[in-house]
Amino acid sequence: MMTPSTEGPVGRHLAILRTVAAAVSRSLDFEEVLEKSLAALTKVTGHELASFHLVTPDGQSLVLRGHRGLSPRLRDVNLTLPFGEGLIGHAAAQGRTLLVDNALASPDLLPAARPVVEAEGIKGFVCVPIRARDRILGTLSLGRQTPDPFSEEEVTLLEAAADQIGLALDNARLYSELRRQLEELRRTQAELIHAEKLSAVGELAAGVAHEINNPLTTILGEIQLLLLSNLGKELKERFQVISDETVRAARIVQSLLLFAGRYPPQRTLCTVADQLRRVLELKGYQLRSDDIRVVMEFDPAPPVWADENQLQQVFLNLVQNAHQAMKEAHGRGALIARARPFEAGVRVEILDDGPGISPEHLPRLFDPFFTTKPPGVGTGLGLSVSYRIVTEHGGRLWAENRPDGGAAFILDLPVGVPPAEPGAAPTLPPKALKVLVVEDEAGVAGVLSSLLRRLGHEAQVARDGRDALARVEKANYDLLIVDLKMPEMSGRQLWEALRDRRSPLARRMAFMSGNARAPELLDLIREAGALTLPKPFTFDDVSALLRGVR
Ligand SMILES: Nc1ncnc2c1ncn2[C@@H]1O[C@H](COP(=O)(O)OP(=O)(O)O)[C@@H](O)[C@H]1O
Ligand SMILES: [Mg+2]
Repeated sequence: MMTPSTEGPVGRHLAILRTVAAAVSRSLDFEEVLEKSLAALTKVTGHELASFHLVTPDGQSLVLRGHRGLSPRLRDVNLTLPFGEGLIGHAAAQGRTLLVDNALASPDLLPAARPVVEAEGIKGFVCVPIRARDRILGTLSLGRQTPDPFSEEEVTLLEAAADQIGLALDNARLYSELRRQLEELRRTQAELIHAEKLSAVGELAAGVAHEINNPLTTILGEIQLLLLSNLGKELKERFQVISDETVRAARIVQSLLLFAGRYPPQRTLCTVADQLRRVLELKGYQLRSDDIRVVMEFDPAPPVWADENQLQQVFLNLVQNAHQAMKEAHGRGALIARARPFEAGVRVEILDDGPGISPEHLPRLFDPFFTTKPPGVGTGLGLSVSYRIVTEHGGRLWAENRPDGGAAFILDLPVGVPPAEPGAAPTLPPKALKVLVVEDEAGVAGVLSSLLRRLGHEAQVARDGRDALARVEKANYDLLIVDLKMPEMSGRQLWEALRDRRSPLARRMAFMSGNARAPELLDLIREAGALTLPKPFTFDDVSALLRGVR
């Protein structure tokens, strides 16, 4: 068997090429490819200076990415070279090997390099372009401080090595691109799984929330009635507590419903920083009294098409969480709220100096009902609702731990597109009102009619759509307050029936729903020119509704 001899120039060259080839074929790491190739190449005679330049993305210059044996000043003049000028710049621009026996004599030598080349005694110089698929990636150069010029074999060796390096660099690039794509794929997959989980829990939550909403409406309504009656001071205070707590429960139910349904946001052109400022003002007193300093850093950013209320809800959740985390950890803190332009939209950051988020909690943070807080304090809904809102706006929301401790919640919102035209406002006649409440839940119907009477109106109850139709045949009403969801005949069907009978009452309706954003409700109030009453409602809600009836 014949082993290639390492004696003589040919054997030595083969050995170098083998080293380069082995190094570059084994590694997909850009830096390692460079390092090993340069090390091998400086052994051409043992006296070489080697340098490796890469073309910058804009194609204007070449930057030094690696070298062997360059003195500091030689390195300095080689750091950035103009593409198309100088020895190396020319070789790169023309895509051809450049070989000179005496560098100093070459008219191409850059004026800045001349004194250094002279002082270093560089004579022979060769530069070969490195290619990958018809593109010039950079150059490989060797200089020699001895009198002997580079031979033809040496140049051939360098060209072969450059080809190998080009191939390896291209592979490394493809590999890192592949890795990036894989990461992207993993991330989107995780997001998909998360979305699936959210919608499954959402369905369940919506069902429960809907069931709870009616009894809550009754409770709240009854308390409101009691509060209006002549109670003693102490009783009144106690009922006020019950009322406040019921409103709190109702708010949780509302966030559940909001979280469960995929409601189209009601968007306007709004300034994100303004919404954030509003929330911070709202929370200002609480934050100050818990010794939490707020720093606002708002850069002018483009307005976005977004639902202002929903945005405020997101910011409120994030600020509240930060507040709770800092207060719990050290009874004081600093909150930084930032908003600035980012890509085609706005980036908001809520940063705190609390305990941060432990790594095992990080992947579960946005799961519905995930909470580390005791019952009564945490519902585990804030972040999942926020996540859904942000996603519905086409944005992204995620959490990180800050390098110096504390948590960072980051939110990217795109500018978005304008929504379709909103519906016309309802018009109703101005006079004292006779109201028909159409509601299958006796408790809700009773409370609502009592509140109406309290407000000085006349109220009657129909227990379903059919009953309502029978009643409007016999008597005149000024307003129908109709539950959206009823057995047999829904609120919409009742409206359609009235419309088909050309009853003027078809334009004098208000619909009750636990879900102010439900698309079926929004469609209906637009088509029917109707008003809405939230469920549960307070005395003020009912009075506002009646005031809206003109
Ligand atoms: N700023 C923060 N710092 C530390 N942990 C946080 C922060 N914000 C949220 N978390 C964690 O995320 C959990 C879920 O938050 P959230 O969905 O708002 O529900 P809740 O606040 O009701 O617990 C919290 O219980 C807490 O463990
Ligand atoms: Mg929260």
